[in-house]
Amino acid sequence: MMPTRRSFIKKGCVHCAAIIGAGFLLEGCGSSMHMYKTQVSDKKIIVPLNEFPADKNIMVVRSKDMENDILLVKKNDHYNALYLQCTHEGVGLSATDKKIVCTAHGSVFDFDGNVLKEPALKPLKKFETSVIENNLIISLT
Ligand code: FES
Repeated sequence: MMPTRRSFIKKGCVHCAAIIGAGFLLEGCGSSMHMYKTQVSDKKIIVPLNEFPADKNIMVVRSKDMENDILLVKKNDHYNALYLQCTHEGVGLSATDKKIVCTAHGSVFDFDGNVLKEPALKPLKKFETSVIENNLIISLT
């Protein structure tokens, strides 16, 4: 069965990059993005810190309980948990090694969730995170 455009964007582009505007700029294809699959429990997601790849500062967290993935970004002293849903019209976003892109209309976000390129005007939803023992807790409230 052919995937719908939405399912392709949501599931097919985690490893691929951006197709932006008429130029079809491809970026990052072939790069691998580590994905951790888990479940939401008590409005929280728990990610063992040892799931974070040693050679990258980003990884994707996927739960069947959520419409879109979360991109975890390891900063110096904290983690950003960015909801991969475009603030323009709600399309699922794709992450490359350097940025977050919306393949529908071309918005681009940085790893703090800030808009780098419109049409999106609002930053990405950022969930609170905390580290307890060897786990990263993402609060979905
Ligand atoms: S839904 Fe992402 S730019 Fe329009």
